[in-house]
Amino acid sequence: MNAAGQQFAFFDLHPPVDDMTAEVQRGLQESPKKLSPKFFYDERGSRLFEAITRLEAYYPTRTELGLFDAHLQQIAALIGQDSCVVEYGSGSSLKIRKLLQALAPSAYVPIDISKDFLLSNAQTLAKDFPSLHVFPVCADFSQAIALPPQTNGMHRVGFFPGSSIGNFEPEQARTFLTRVAGTLGRGGHLLIGVDCKKETKTLELAYNDPDGVTAQFNLNALAHLNRVLDADFNLRAFAHEAHYNEDLGCIQMFLRSLVEQRVDICDEHFHFAAGECLHTENSYKYAPAEFAQLAGSAGFDCQQQWLDEKAYFGLYLLRAR
Ligand code: TRP
Repeated sequence: MNAAGQQFAFFDLHPPVDDMTAEVQRGLQESPKKLSPKFFYDERGSRLFEAITRLEAYYPTRTELGLFDAHLQQIAALIGQDSCVVEYGSGSSLKIRKLLQALAPSAYVPIDISKDFLLSNAQTLAKDFPSLHVFPVCADFSQAIALPPQTNGMHRVGFFPGSSIGNFEPEQARTFLTRVAGTLGRGGHLLIGVDCKKETKTLELAYNDPDGVTAQFNLNALAHLNRVLDADFNLRAFAHEAHYNEDLGCIQMFLRSLVEQRVDICDEHFHFAAGECLHTENSYKYAPAEFAQLAGSAGFDCQQQWLDEKAYFGLYLLRAR
C-alpha cells in the first residue's frame, strides 16, 4: 500500500447482457443486411486477429510499432511524470508494454468488455511491472466511464492504438472522442494511432491477404453465431470481400452469399439472394489534416503528430481543451 491505495483493484461496470439473438435478427432484417463487428471476437476470432497483425500484407501494426520505437522517448518527455494510462480496449500487450516502459506511469487502467481476457492480461502486467498500480475496468468503452477514484488528481493519458477509431462511423468517432476528452479531463493527453488514406491497391491488399487469414476472420463471425445462437450459416456458401470506398475513405468488409439460400436463427428465417452482401465492418482512413479536424471538433488540440516515411500510418498526441 502507498499513497494511491492498493496496488490492484478490479471494477466491474459490465452492461447487462443484451439480447444477442434479437440484435442479430434485427441486423439481418435491414437492407442491406448487416452484422455487428463485435461477433468477430470469440476466442478463435481473437487468435485470427493476432495472426492478421503479423501478416506481410497488413502494414498497420508493424508501422505503428515502428513509430513507437522511434518516438516513445519524445512522447514520454512531452507527457511527463506521475501519469495514469487509460487504455481503451485491452489489446495487443506488446504495444502497452512499450508504452508503460517508456512512460513509467503511476497507474494503469485497462478498459475492456471481455472480463476474463481483461483480468488475466491485467494480472500479468501487474506482475511484470511491480511498482505500477493496476485498476482494470470491465466496461463498454463506447459509453461514459467513471475512472477508479484512486486515479483522481493524476495526469491522465488515454491510449487508443491500432486505428480502432476507424471502425466507428465518423459521427460515432466524434461522439467517442468527445466522451474520452471528458473522462481524461482538461489537459489530459490521448495517444492515438490512426491509419492514413493511401492508394487503393495497398489498402485492399491489407484486407484481402493472399493467405486468406482475413477471410477466415470474417467468416468466423458466422461460425461464432452458429455456436452461440441457434443459427445454421453454411460457411462454404459465403465469401469474404473487402473494398475501398474512395468517396467515403473507408474499407468495407462483406460476406457475399454465393447462392440463393435460407438461414435460420432460432425460429426466424432469413433469405439471401445469390450475390447478396452481408456487411460486417468498416475501417475509415483519415488524412492527418482530417483527423486533426475531427479531434479538434471533439475537444482536443493536436500537440504533435508522427508519420512513417511512407505516410501510411499516423500517431497523434492530443490534449483535451
Ligand atoms: N482497427 C483495425 C483496422 O481497421 C483492425 C481491424 C478491425 C481489422 N477489424 C478488422 C483488420 C478486420 C482486418 C480485418 O484495420
